[in-house]
Amino acid sequence: MRRATITGWGKYLPSNVMTNKDLEKIVDTTDEWIQKRTGIKKRRIADEDTATSDLAIEASKNALEKANLDPEELDLIIVSTVTPDMAFPATACIVQDKIGASNAAAFDLEAGCSGFVYGLSVGSQFIESGLYDNVLIIGAETLSKITDWEDRNTCVLFGDGAGAAVLQATDKGGFLAFDLGSDGSGADALYMEAGGSAKPASLETVKNKQHYIRMEGNPVFKFAVKTMKKASLDVLDKASLTTDDINLLIPHQANTRIIKSARRRLKLDEDEVYVNLPELGNTSSASVAIAMAEARENGKINNGDNVLLVAFGAGLTWAAAAIEWNENI
Ligand code: UT7
Repeated sequence: MRRATITGWGKYLPSNVMTNKDLEKIVDTTDEWIQKRTGIKKRRIADEDTATSDLAIEASKNALEKANLDPEELDLIIVSTVTPDMAFPATACIVQDKIGASNAAAFDLEAGCSGFVYGLSVGSQFIESGLYDNVLIIGAETLSKITDWEDRNTCVLFGDGAGAAVLQATDKGGFLAFDLGSDGSGADALYMEAGGSAKPASLETVKNKQHYIRMEGNPVFKFAVKTMKKASLDVLDKASLTTDDINLLIPHQANTRIIKSARRRLKLDEDEVYVNLPELGNTSSASVAIAMAEARENGKINNGDNVLLVAFGAGLTWAAAAIEWNENI
């Protein structure tokens, strides 16, 4: 059976590090509160002149190099982001041009923090159907650009970065199953109010600070804990696997308490779960992409391993993927 598999992976992080101590100088918070309630110690912040596409381009180049693929060989580029360079054109088109992927279609996909896993599922369909051979999926964010640096409920959580994966066809292993879902009744738990057709940008929306991330932390937390377990078990079921078969879980990096709860509910050991949240914070749709690239780079993923990706986010949405890792196509 023709399936999609990951043959290249890459990440890129801005060099500027912001610690919890730095945040203590900006809002009424403490390093102790942030670490205890979220697990986060630091995060990367892009500078003023850096756009989401700049991070996406660097992550893409790394992924293409690992896959030993020329940009001209790409058939499709999907960028998942909630912080596109502009409302339009798609950030994927900017990436397509700047990396020289002259034969690729390109579009953006928005599913909150679940977006990268949604993107993998979309890319996989093009490969399984035989329509395309080489697909690049990117999760990239500059959340610092839509962060209200006076809102301690949100500004301590987020960071910037990008991750990318090259998908190609294989007849052994690869993506075994996906589980995607949404519950739009929770749309008001995590959103940016203005700048779209419902509330176009105006002097008033700027004055009212409606171009920033707003979040009700508690409902999102509860949703996350419930969903991470359910989506994980559902995708394993579709892949005819159990949690015993899993070598590594790569969860969306939002809160170590959420990750710990998912780990316990799935009865996994600590070393079976990849966590980089303390170093990078929550990078939304880049988080699973970056964590996966790091895990592969650090030897936490090897050919033949069963890897489970699971994410949740604004929408509300969720997405999980079961992969039998196989780079040898
Ligand atoms: O990618 C998806 C994005 N979102 C998430 O995954 C978020 C999921 N939710 C969470 O991770 C947690 O709900 C938070 C970390 C956001 C908040 O933790 P919490 O334990 O749910 O705290 P809380 O919102 O119930 O707030 C507890 C207290 C409040 O004070 P009072 O009202 O009890 O006096 C907050 O005002 O903590 C206060 N607080 C802070 N204190 C110091 C909130 N933020 C901060 C802060 N520093 N940064």
